[in-house]
Amino acid sequence: MTLRHFISLDDFDLATHERLVARASELKQMHRRGLRYEPLRGRTLAMIFEQPSTRTRVAFEAGMTQLGGHALFLSENDTQLGRGELADDAAKVLSEMVDVIMIRTPDQTKIDTFAAAAKVPVINAMSSLQHPCQILADMQTYFDHRGSIRGAKVAFVGDGFNMCKSYIIASHVYQFDLTVASPERFRPNADWVARYGSRTRLVTDPEAAVKDADLVVTDVWSSMGHESEQLLRLRAFQGYQITAKLLDQASKDVLFMHCLPAKRGQEIAEDLLEDPRAVVFEEAGNRLHSQKALLELLLIGER
Ligand code: CP
Repeated sequence: MTLRHFISLDDFDLATHERLVARASELKQMHRRGLRYEPLRGRTLAMIFEQPSTRTRVAFEAGMTQLGGHALFLSENDTQLGRGELADDAAKVLSEMVDVIMIRTPDQTKIDTFAAAAKVPVINAMSSLQHPCQILADMQTYFDHRGSIRGAKVAFVGDGFNMCKSYIIASHVYQFDLTVASPERFRPNADWVARYGSRTRLVTDPEAAVKDADLVVTDVWSSMGHESEQLLRLRAFQGYQITAKLLDQASKDVLFMHCLPAKRGQEIAEDLLEDPRAVVFEEAGNRLHSQKALLELLLIGER
């Protein structure tokens, strides 16, 4: 099989993404029916985490088990990577022993280095640039409720960091129209917008972004790595909280998503996750099915 990585959303074209999302839904139904499907028997996933995770780790680990394989958790602190072993060398070593590698690190260059050196597929499990695996789950969730997202109106309200940038590149790949509402100072990086933002509009007013939207998305105001700016950000993002009243400005069929973990009372109202328009816990659950579909695609090809 040809070696393929999943480092950036645009590593796959739209047709591949649409088949991947449909396959994720199919795998979800198979799992619900209790069908055993173990095409990855004897295969191993190495999971390198330089930052904490609940959803990504559990989805990959449970996903590998369900597919008949095994996942190996490697924290930076417990491996030689934490003592300065070069990413290039580590990628070559792991390629001798495992079938696929997943990395979460803020350092995109490290992921790129792994992909360049590895002889097995490498998956970006979140960097400070993008979180492509989260987008797969979000697109599956939208697909399961509303069908294709092509041409839909999507609003991202909040920090222009990695989830916002993921939505910008997703709008380019999946062909939906995106409006981002953030304070001027926390807008997404201009280079990223220039590269992937042909369907992206930047505003400062959350109401303007959300108006008639089919999907509204947000993320925490202080992501991992921004802990020292928490107070400054709390002040800067006042007025950007997603509330039930704000969602009333959107389409009557709007869906609300959040990659989690959330800070209730900050970027979302205390009870927003219980709002009938919120599909956030289902979205989290779809991390499992979409990552299984991704592993299947990278290791044995399309089914
Ligand atoms: N959304 C997400 O990636 O969650 P974790 O940080 O828990 O993996």
